[in-house]
Amino acid sequence: MKLLVTGGLGFIGSNFVRYILDKYPNYELINLDKVTYCGRYENLKDIENNPNYTFVKGDIGNQELVEHIINHHKPDVVVNIAAESHNDNAIKDPHIFVKTNVLGTQVLLHACLDKVKRFHHVSTCEVYGDLDLDSDEKFTESTRYAPKSPYNASKAGSDHIVMAYYHTFGLPVTISNAGNNYGPYQYPEKLIPLFVTNAIENKKLPLFKSSQNKREWIHVLDHCRAIDAIIHKGKVGQYYNVGTGVEKNIEEITKIILNHLQKPESLKEYVPDRKSHDRRYLLDSSKIMNEIGWAPEIDFDQGIKETIDWYKENEWWWRPLKNA
Ligand SMILES: NC(=O)c1ccc[n+]([C@@H]2O[C@H](COP(=O)([O-])OP(=O)(O)OC[C@H]3O[C@@H](n4cnc5c(N)ncnc54)[C@H](O)[C@@H]3O)[C@@H](O)[C@H]2O)c1
Repeated sequence: MKLLVTGGLGFIGSNFVRYILDKYPNYELINLDKVTYCGRYENLKDIENNPNYTFVKGDIGNQELVEHIINHHKPDVVVNIAAESHNDNAIKDPHIFVKTNVLGTQVLLHACLDKVKRFHHVSTCEVYGDLDLDSDEKFTESTRYAPKSPYNASKAGSDHIVMAYYHTFGLPVTISNAGNNYGPYQYPEKLIPLFVTNAIENKKLPLFKSSQNKREWIHVLDHCRAIDAIIHKGKVGQYYNVGTGVEKNIEEITKIILNHLQKPESLKEYVPDRKSHDRRYLLDSSKIMNEIGWAPEIDFDQGIKETIDWYKENEWWWRPLKNA
């Protein structure tokens, strides 16, 4: 099988590319990535000489380039992971989020018409809006989309255009909406790598004032396994929620990091909330579990400690980013 993965130099993308090439030694994989500040060649340093791997630098919104890649490489499956992904940046400059996440996705979809067996789009739980902290509700695949921030809205827009290509043109699509990922190679602007690397450097850990706000956490490798399961066994035209049921608030995450690194509580500092800071997301992931047989394999307590240790042992990876 031949896969075109977009955004394969980012956090989830690089873990996914490595996972696929390890698991399927006969698969060929083309990685199309614009190499934004988050896309780093270092993330796939260990596989750049793999004969089954081809890298193309470019934008998913570049119609000529994307058509050329589809026509020349003829991938069976496209996995669209490329995106602008940081909520804070979307508040400063929403335009690039709509450009890449919505318009870029549309260009890619169009180039795939009548050419691919599957177009899988990687999305987020954040499209559903948020829940009360003490709510008994969970987001299901039929929950109404209610995004509140420009990043979330751009991902919701991309999901809608993906599904429109299924209903209107018959493109065989699937969409996964995952919870908050953690693991190695995550850019240190995101909560866990930011707090771990700050703590290692004895710098303050900036907790949003609403530090009871909860997120559902999934190890990036469990997310990769879910995408793998969906492209092989998922039904076209379907959305799949991908979560673990493991919820932790910012205080709990901070405590785990400080304890594991044996750093003092005094590193904590409270900062104003981000605008439209969602309170809580929780997914009902029974559909992917029952229909496809996927289930998370990595225990959170173990996975988070291994992740903290990875950042501790790989200062070469994050130090240049923190000092940039
Ligand atoms: N990180 C999470 O917790 C999480 C959870 C659920 C879903 N997601 C989704 O997963 C995807 C990847 O997230 P991530 O955390 O790995 O992001 P990331 O920012 O680490 O990586 C994004 C990658 O996309 C590339 N890219 C950006 N714009 C591009 C463009 N126009 N053309 C080609 N490549 C481009 C970047 O260079 C980078 O390599 C996003 O769609 C995000 O919405 C992320």
